[in-house]
Amino acid sequence: MLSIRVLVALACCTLPLAAQHEAGADGRSKHPAMGDAKAIAAGQKLYATSCTGCHGATAEGGRGPNLRQRGMWHPLDDDALFGTIKRGVPGADMPGLNLPDEQVWQIAAFVRSLTAPAIDTHVPGDTAAGESVFWGKAKCGSCHAVRGKGGTFGPDLGNVASMKAAEDIRAAIVDPTGDGFGRYRGVTVKLKSGRSLKGLARNHNNYSIQVQQPDGNLELLHMGDVEVLVFSKTSLMPGDFRERLTKEELDNLVAYLSRQSVRTAVK
Ligand code: HEC
Ligand code: HEC
Repeated sequence: MLSIRVLVALACCTLPLAAQHEAGADGRSKHPAMGDAKAIAAGQKLYATSCTGCHGATAEGGRGPNLRQRGMWHPLDDDALFGTIKRGVPGADMPGLNLPDEQVWQIAAFVRSLTAPAIDTHVPGDTAAGESVFWGKAKCGSCHAVRGKGGTFGPDLGNVASMKAAEDIRAAIVDPTGDGFGRYRGVTVKLKSGRSLKGLARNHNNYSIQVQQPDGNLELLHMGDVEVLVFSKTSLMPGDFRERLTKEELDNLVAYLSRQSVRTAVK
């Protein structure tokens, strides 16, 4: 009897905590910082002081893994992500953080925003202004279609916000050729066995490379078997948008594309 009362009391105490988590679109609980533009911006500042040393200024990785490529670290749910950042990774090289929980959540929100599809995060910027840059000044629409309108030379961007994080969209615009994530970097590989193949380079590192072939097949090659590797030097997309557009125009473009999804946007 007594123990039941204790349980009831405990359940009451945890209610205010639970109330902080609003239900996400999938019905799972979600901390208010996750996906929140202000929290993400605050988390980015904290990330710069506490995490860049090991994970890199743009989270590209270093002593710690690349935090922008989903495949590099196992996907953690929100609570596990919070716990990892707060307590570190015992046994590995990552220290815990001595910061209030609110700030740890902000960092978690920032780290999540790096991989979350853009449609699931708040992306600052003026989407209407971005839309006019897309079809007007930057002529993106001469190569890309959105909802049936526009060119077909480049990939259709009508669902880009479900496929890419906001920062990946930005990287695709300002640095289509850069090593960024090289999703579309053409490569020709000659193997020691004499076989050659051509395709798009994915997840290239010192040990292996994945080559996506025109039929969509992904083949993993060990660098030890590779005789020659030649990357195509340029993307087919113009590489000078950083010079041709102002920072504000770029922000607005990213905001506009971050809403292009077959799913509905977060409020
Ligand atoms: C001293 C270096 C170092 C610092 C500082 C550091 N990390 Fe790490 N981090 C690592 C290493 C090493 C790993 C890989 C651990 C492992 O082997 O799973 C890692 C792993 C991670 C992972 C993936 C965990 C998993 O289970 O896949 C996340 C997320 C992460 N770090 C976020 C952060 C954030 C956010 C900060 C700043 C608050 C931070 N790290 C600071 C070194 C560091
Ligand atoms: C001359 C044609 C051309 C123009 C103009 C152009 N792009 Fe591209 N774009 C491409 C091609 C081709 C690709 C795919 C190959 C690559 O990335 O190298 C691409 C890729 C992209 C991607 C990545 C898509 C994905 O699914 O990964 C985004 C985002 C993008 N472009 C946005 C833009 C924006 C925004 C503009 C205008 C500022 C623009 N592009 C202008 C041809 C173009």
